[in-house]
Amino acid sequence: MEKTSKIWMDGKFVDWNDAKVHVLAHALNYGTGVFEGIRVYDTPSGPAIFRLKDHVKRLMDGCRVMCFDLPYTFDEICEAIKETVRVNKKVDYVKPCVFLCGEAVGLNPIGVPLKFTITAVYLGSYLGKEAQEKGASLVTSSWFRPWNLAAPAGCKVNGIYVTSCLAKMEAKKHGADEAVMLNAQGNVAECSGENIFMFKRGKLYTPTTADSILEGITRNSIMEIARDLGYEVIETEISRIDMLTADEVFMTGTAAELTMVANIDKRAIGEGKPGKVGKQLAAKYADVVRGKDPKYEKWLDRV
Ligand SMILES: Cc1ncc(COP(=O)(O)O)c(C=O)c1O
Repeated sequence: MEKTSKIWMDGKFVDWNDAKVHVLAHALNYGTGVFEGIRVYDTPSGPAIFRLKDHVKRLMDGCRVMCFDLPYTFDEICEAIKETVRVNKKVDYVKPCVFLCGEAVGLNPIGVPLKFTITAVYLGSYLGKEAQEKGASLVTSSWFRPWNLAAPAGCKVNGIYVTSCLAKMEAKKHGADEAVMLNAQGNVAECSGENIFMFKRGKLYTPTTADSILEGITRNSIMEIARDLGYEVIETEISRIDMLTADEVFMTGTAAELTMVANIDKRAIGEGKPGKVGKQLAAKYADVVRGKDPKYEKWLDRV
């Protein structure tokens, strides 16, 4: 990741090094925040934010679940994100975050002041070029995806990401690129920061929102693109064995885009390299986000 110069903080731009909070900030101690991750792409008619409105809507939904009283409207948030991209050079990823910044000891979040920050960075390839070109290595995590009744798994709530960090660390310590987490029922949920798809006997499958996943915006984009290309896409429970015996597996996420999976738990998926369907969808997605397909122009917000 490369830093930028200005961070949007409660309506004003501050220098990167001045974007500070207190050590007793409620969010720092208890994870009480909601965030987003949004990509910015160069297109023939200038930089564009991919599915900005959907990301802001999900951020606001998360705030509603956390009972955060956001003092900004939907349009103001969209504009602030665009402005943050405009004032910084070399940006490909934006991370808005609403969190309880008040100095508080005790779990009750009611009445604790909140802060809204928007940080833009240059992220580049999230899982690395090699994983993107040759397919990623995955391990099945010993940590389960927090299930829908134990945590708001469908929202990007900061505190929930401890499990994702543990899963990611486990993958790295095993020499893998990413971890796939199972849910409380033992079915496939998702990766630490990506949704998961498999292609098997001519059809695409992905877990349902009832399987304790984050309802990914890239997941939704790929489902629409795949259907437009004539594929049948089925949202359903997926067992670990279903996944290990799939013809192809790939991950989707704003940061990781579409990354194909070469192996899971040291077992080759299909031929152990990026498959035909994943490659076709990844290529189409790369065109769509860069404004090269007018059909999906609706997903691009020019900066
Ligand atoms: C846990 C988790 N699952 C899936 C995703 C993919 O979601 P999206 O495609 O909206 O980035 C993310 C990334 O935001 C995530 O953090």
